[in-house]
Amino acid sequence: MNVSIVGSGYVGTTVAACLADAGHRVTNVDIDDSIVKAINDGESPIHEPGLADLLAEHGGHGVIATTDYEDILDTDLTLLALPTPSNEDGSIDTSILEAAAESLGETLAGKDDSHVVVVKSTTVPGVVEERIAPTIAEAADAELGVDIHVATNPEFLREGSAVEDFRSPDRIVIGTDSELAGKRLDTLYDPVIAAAEDDVPLVHTGTREAMMIKYASNAFLAAKVSLINELGVICKAYGVDSYEVAEALGFDDRIGAKFLRSGVGWGGSCFPKDTDALVAAARDRGIDPMVLDAVKERNDSQPAHLLALLDEHVDVAGKRVAVLGLSFKPGTDDTRNSRAVPVIEKLRDRGADIIAYDPVAVKDMRERYPEVEFTAADSAGEALDGAHAALVVTEWDEFAALDEEFDRMAEPIVVDGRRIISRRDGIVYEGITW
Ligand code: UDX
Repeated sequence: MNVSIVGSGYVGTTVAACLADAGHRVTNVDIDDSIVKAINDGESPIHEPGLADLLAEHGGHGVIATTDYEDILDTDLTLLALPTPSNEDGSIDTSILEAAAESLGETLAGKDDSHVVVVKSTTVPGVVEERIAPTIAEAADAELGVDIHVATNPEFLREGSAVEDFRSPDRIVIGTDSELAGKRLDTLYDPVIAAAEDDVPLVHTGTREAMMIKYASNAFLAAKVSLINELGVICKAYGVDSYEVAEALGFDDRIGAKFLRSGVGWGGSCFPKDTDALVAAARDRGIDPMVLDAVKERNDSQPAHLLALLDEHVDVAGKRVAVLGLSFKPGTDDTRNSRAVPVIEKLRDRGADIIAYDPVAVKDMRERYPEVEFTAADSAGEALDGAHAALVVTEWDEFAALDEEFDRMAEPIVVDGRRIISRRDGIVYEGITW
């Protein structure tokens, strides 16, 4: 099938490479020349395991990147994978998506046969139906459901395992009232489903329902982690190891074993943004989202728990403190809403001198949060050297292997926000929820 994708961000590029690998011919449109060039040269514009190999094979052949919307005319279906950043009040800003819808519509005015447009960007119910679809139809001077068929198809890829998630999805959700769009999307995903190891449920539903499934999914997961974090803090107060509790909890099928790792909280782009958007969407309809408010509040308060544990052992004013990990989770250089940001801010409030180490995320942190002040170390050992305390924010595997490096600390106080450090003689060890 000939498919086009507008947007070469983290979702667009991953989906483009994976669909090409599944045998489709993919045209990837983006306004950024450097990204277009990278893809056509067979290079990955982002850090994502497996993506570089896929683009080395398909970039410039199976996936052709371009800045020219006209190239869409040779395709049967267009996926819109554009960012929907947060507004001040947590609601989503759809202006980038709407601008792309306009350009797409203007292009489609030149197309004779019917075209399917699929919104992958996460949007609250109503945005596609009331704004995106009419914008495309008006710009194309075409009729919805006749010339242009619209669908939603939310993405559930996790950063750090996006390629793997695309190949073995838990489910594929297709939202559309159009039979033609539904059929074309089935054809698009046929090879993916055939190649997947396990059975992949294919959910056909309405455009609004599909988007709500995405929000509900992230809200549930964020709530699950916030709940285990709250239980964890209570466990700790009673001298209980929350990880022992979580292990037994996980054997209950109704609860499940995943997403029960308590710690310093969740970050990234999706959980914070999607919970905020859902909260704003609820308020917009006069609904008080009290559980979601608590989910966010619990997350916001976890860094304070980490610092309170530190305060029990040492006054860090004027002292060197090591921060281990800056990315919002291991396996990515993404620092968006990383718990490292509030942790470092709270350390600075206490007058500490911060030396941080992360294997890949220093650059991203400096670019995104220039106001967060720290000195970067080249290794965990270097960060620990002369430190009066160490705070662990991200569970990078290499932290589990740290051992003699702790001997380099001025005072061996380790407060672990992720249960990754191996305890050893000679260190004073505190876990946030154990
Ligand atoms: C998430 C969703 O999982 C994905 O389906 C959606 O498409 C995008 O948002 P991602 O943000 O990449 O993916 O990260 P994820 O692996 O889900 O982790 C989210 C946050 O929760 C991380 O900060 C992680 O450290 C934290 N987390 C996760 C925990 O603190 N404990 C856990 O047990 C699991």
